[in-house]
Amino acid sequence: MNRHPDSHVVHIGVGQDPLHGAVSTPIYQTVTYQHPGNALGPYDYSRTENPTRTALAEGLALLEGGAGASLFASGMAAIVALFHLLNHGDHVVLTEDLYGGTYRVLTDVFGRLGVTASFVDTCRSKDVLDALTPTTRLIFLETPSNPHLYVTDVQEMAGIAHTHNSWLAVDNTFMTPLRQRPFDLGADFVVYSATKYLSGHNDVLAGALIAADPDLAKRIQELANSTGGVLAPFDAWLVMRGIKTLAVRLDRQEASARHIANFLLDHPGVGPVYFPGLDSHPGHSLQKHQARGPGAMVTFQLKAGRRHAEFMDALKLILPAVSLGGAESLITHPLTETHRELPPDRLQSLKIGPGLMRLSVGLEHPDDLIQDLDAALDRIKES
Ligand SMILES: Cc1ncc(COP(=O)(O)O)c(C=O)c1O
Repeated sequence: MNRHPDSHVVHIGVGQDPLHGAVSTPIYQTVTYQHPGNALGPYDYSRTENPTRTALAEGLALLEGGAGASLFASGMAAIVALFHLLNHGDHVVLTEDLYGGTYRVLTDVFGRLGVTASFVDTCRSKDVLDALTPTTRLIFLETPSNPHLYVTDVQEMAGIAHTHNSWLAVDNTFMTPLRQRPFDLGADFVVYSATKYLSGHNDVLAGALIAADPDLAKRIQELANSTGGVLAPFDAWLVMRGIKTLAVRLDRQEASARHIANFLLDHPGVGPVYFPGLDSHPGHSLQKHQARGPGAMVTFQLKAGRRHAEFMDALKLILPAVSLGGAESLITHPLTETHRELPPDRLQSLKIGPGLMRLSVGLEHPDDLIQDLDAALDRIKES
């Protein structure tokens, strides 16, 4: 039966207990597996494979339309596994408006190991073409980007990458497989911080790296086993429990985000609002073409930017905290939090200043969220 992805997420991990028929996948909290004296069984050691982790990995690979998924202890560990496919001397082109941790690991860690990187505006294909060098092996996109939610044309980037003998990877954390399917658009890798929407409850760190090609999927699995930063069984179970409600959570969060973006757009205390669902957003039509929705992140500029801390403190329902994609709405200050590792000139050129706020819209009632924002904006009203 050809299942809708919304049904698929509900059934990830179901049917994994032939012994007792448990509907919820058992947590195989074991390091090792007893075997007959003369041969190993299907599992031998949990760093290599564990049935709870495998149930989630297989479900995710199928959902994404990839050849295989490897699961890691965090999104950063999944991103690191991807960069481990590169060699000394290789070059990467990345979306410049991207998660600060990805910037940090490339410049601080892989830079020392001889991998070079160019951070460019991937919404402009000319900038990407200009950045390519004979050693470019990977184009890495975040779309919508972080924190401004700019939209890059994934199909166009896949064409550029493949013409230049490079891979295309997409960090699909903000979109999830229910909103954007990078493999259908030509990507070679999809990476997730499963800490966010996939698990959805702000209670587990997890990462996934999915490859379109079976040989690359196998190489990543071997890398995961060699480097060891794999997802623990209980954490895999938490992601599996969370992902069952992904479709309904996203529908609600996205609808609320739309209300909130429109409210902010009309508010006199707010400057530009960045939300791909708004007609005024520069990536609006591209987002409609390549994704099934705008997502539930809203970024906006406070006019009274220097009073950002007062604004955050005045919020009563929305929590000032770093992260996104969970049941609770969170507000983040990119300048001092998620993007603080970027050098000052880059922060300035990306327009990440004191008044920029990134809101992850949660599952509370949208009227309450709007009321909370309205009251906090009132607090910092300039007379
Ligand atoms: C888009 C994106 N990718 C990757 C990461 C890293 O994920 P993790 O925190 O699970 O290591 C984050 C974290 O905020 C993120 O926002």
